[in-house]
Amino acid sequence: MPIDYSEREKSYELYRKGKQEGTWDPDEYDLEGDRADWQQFSEDEQHRFLATCSGFYDGEEDVTRTLAPYMMALDALPNEEMPFDTVQEEMYLAQQVYEEAKHTDFFSRYFEAVFGTQETAPYREGGYQEQGYSTDDLYDTADELRAAIDSGDRTELVYALGEAYLNYMGIVEAQLARGGYLSFDQMIELKAEEMRRDVVLESFQDAIGKVRQDETRHIENGRWVMRKLADAEPDIVADIYEPRIEEYVENRLLADPLYDDQPFDGYDQRAIGNRVTQFLQDTVDYIGADRFERYGDVRATLEERQAAD
Ligand SMILES: [Fe+2]
Ligand SMILES: [Fe+2]
Repeated sequence: MPIDYSEREKSYELYRKGKQEGTWDPDEYDLEGDRADWQQFSEDEQHRFLATCSGFYDGEEDVTRTLAPYMMALDALPNEEMPFDTVQEEMYLAQQVYEEAKHTDFFSRYFEAVFGTQETAPYREGGYQEQGYSTDDLYDTADELRAAIDSGDRTELVYALGEAYLNYMGIVEAQLARGGYLSFDQMIELKAEEMRRDVVLESFQDAIGKVRQDETRHIENGRWVMRKLADAEPDIVADIYEPRIEEYVENRLLADPLYDDQPFDGYDQRAIGNRVTQFLQDTVDYIGADRFERYGDVRATLEERQAAD
């Protein structure tokens, strides 16, 4: 009996929540109205919207295909020595991989029925995923996890898992995907205003609402595991988390905006930047801000860095 069911942990709680919330079906959305709305987008607007959607479509497939080694790595840890139950976390991830498959399924269907294409490469050029960390890199992260499993070294495995959770849940989900949702919100709202409508792409908005709800659980679980891994190996914060966050800040938060041209009139990139900075602070706070040398206060460090440039 590997699970102590009298001690249900955060991962198990989130698994239970997911059983109730995560039951939506991408096939149930009627996409006729969305297809009509899409024809009202200008060519530039379509291209800009497709750029973010393409990042998501590819990204959802990438996260679906690279999550399995996380379960294998958890299973290779000595459960009784760890400050959390690795089996409950494995159950949680089993649910997450199904949800990621469903997100891929939704984008696949939407591309086919509304955008009339399965192409993503032409829209990704020079933008979204190509600057700094890309979901393509999750395949390398998965390889590193497999190598750590083979090493049989506990610390190496905990470090590899910490880096993997930071890349996947900490950066791709908590930062890149959430920034993308804010971008969708703005584009759709601005287009609706222009068309004097309450909402456009209604089924897209509804389904993305479900995806976001799933992702909120993925992010919370990821932050919780990162904290537990820091309890197991406190040096992981200085050795892995902080340098990895620094790299993200360098490549994304301090870099130039991804798009020079913004076809949606009134689009506010700064507002998104502020929210995304807060998301990073939330991750740091969840792990424990006092454990960080430089990024305990993200905004203060960012301002310092900007002043130095
Ligand atoms: Fe997803
Ligand atoms: Fe996710």
